[in-house]
Amino acid sequence: MGKGPGQKRNLQESDDESSATNLKPNTQVFARWRDGTERRAIVIERRPVNNELGQETNRWRYYLHWLDFNRRMDSWVNDEHIRYDAEGDMLLKLEEKKRRESTKSVKDQSQGPHSVPSALVTDKDAIVDEDEAGTVYRGRKLDGNVVVDFVEPEHGADMTDEQIREHEEVTKIKNVNNIELGRHNMETWYFSPIPKEYWQDDFIDTLYMCEFCLSFFCHRSELQNHSRKCKLRHPPGDEIYRGKDNICMWELDGSKEKTYCQNLSYLAKLFLDHKTLYYDVDLFMYYVMTEMDEHGHHIVGYFSKEKVSEPGYNLACILTLPCHQRKGYGRFLIQFSYELSKIEKRVGHPEKPLSDLGLLSYRSYWSWVILGLLLSWTEDEISIADILKHTSIRVEDIIATLTHHNMIRIGPTGTHAIVMERSAMEREFNRQNSKTGPVVDPTRIHWVPRRDIPQKKDKWLISSILDHLAAESI
Ligand code: ACO
Ligand code: ZN
Repeated sequence: MGKGPGQKRNLQESDDESSATNLKPNTQVFARWRDGTERRAIVIERRPVNNELGQETNRWRYYLHWLDFNRRMDSWVNDEHIRYDAEGDMLLKLEEKKRRESTKSVKDQSQGPHSVPSALVTDKDAIVDEDEAGTVYRGRKLDGNVVVDFVEPEHGADMTDEQIREHEEVTKIKNVNNIELGRHNMETWYFSPIPKEYWQDDFIDTLYMCEFCLSFFCHRSELQNHSRKCKLRHPPGDEIYRGKDNICMWELDGSKEKTYCQNLSYLAKLFLDHKTLYYDVDLFMYYVMTEMDEHGHHIVGYFSKEKVSEPGYNLACILTLPCHQRKGYGRFLIQFSYELSKIEKRVGHPEKPLSDLGLLSYRSYWSWVILGLLLSWTEDEISIADILKHTSIRVEDIIATLTHHNMIRIGPTGTHAIVMERSAMEREFNRQNSKTGPVVDPTRIHWVPRRDIPQKKDKWLISSILDHLAAESI
């Protein structure tokens, strides 16, 4: 007999997983995806559905992780759109058991810390995305002649099992479903450590943000009140770039514009699956990209950069707001980060791990820049050192890009040669170059580098690296 409204249930009591009204976390199901098709998913969490009087009904809502999709697509689904996948669930449990056993034996052998993938990340190899045309990319994306491998970031390499589990527990459910920012309403992707008072009941449906100062509110009326008083019409920093296309870049010091930069980090975290939940904004500079019109400068994306980076990172986090993605803004931000490195006379590289989309964007940028340089090179020979000198891209990333295009040949004496048919290079370069997105005009950057590290000790200076390469005759 079914249980009536108001009756209490003990979630742990029932073992009957065959009905969609009684599924426990970590159960595999078929569920209705947003386009109406049925897809495989795993239950992450469940909540009873209350009626208008706030009484419990016999219904459930489930928070699902879709096996075909990246974690950013996790979502709530009502039980009427879900059915138990007996066969899939049995296989899942078997795999989980095998994994636990092998993890245990590896642990017994090594006793070292390692990341334990949970059911939440069963799709580690199945990074999937959809473009506007609804094309689903799974595992590999074929783009002309280029095969782009997707790689899931290896998060938390320096975290203990306990910390990883705690992080997964805290972040497994999105706490904000949508944000309204200026003219845009965006569905969010991940949990963000926004203060709990903003999402008291598990999650808040829409968070309203001021697009100029990034203050956020639970209600639109609060934002409207705020907007009447907020005087800001651009990010509170120095304008260091203004392009012909009305794209501007602003530099902000995290220790001076703390509130803005913290709000920016909360906003960014909604779209970034990083393990780090807390940022010390004091240690970073922020570079915010805006589009200018008669109402002001509207944020479209940003990247952050550590003031001092021992490993030589020239970019810590990068984000293009989803409503502006796939218009070439990511490439613009990446290019800007390298233009700053060129002004610093240093090489740089992004902080690892890269997300799937981050890796795609970097691969694409590196290819565009390196192929462009090779095609415009007028001398007979070009070395890796030449490429580095002109692009500020570090050796490893140059080699990875050339290898990706199958352009490195090792000769009989162990020497390396860069080879590719000119027509193939032109084809790939033209594909990249035909994109209509904005391109940084370096002559319009007005910026003086910080000098936090004495030059003599700066191992990322191009001159230091060239000396090193010459010594190794690369
Ligand atoms: N599916 C497939 N390919 C995609 C997608 C997608 N959803 N989004 C971008 N791409 C590809 C583009 O096709 C393009 O490749 P191409 O040059 O071969 O055609 C390339 O990625 C760059 O496209 P842009 O339009 O320049 O990039 P965009 O403005 O969309 O921004 C970014 C890319 C910043 C990675 C964006 O997707 C984003 O903000 N993602 C969420 C946050 C994130 O993952 N950031 C990187 C984390 S790693 C780090 O911060 C160091
Ligand atoms: Zn404001």
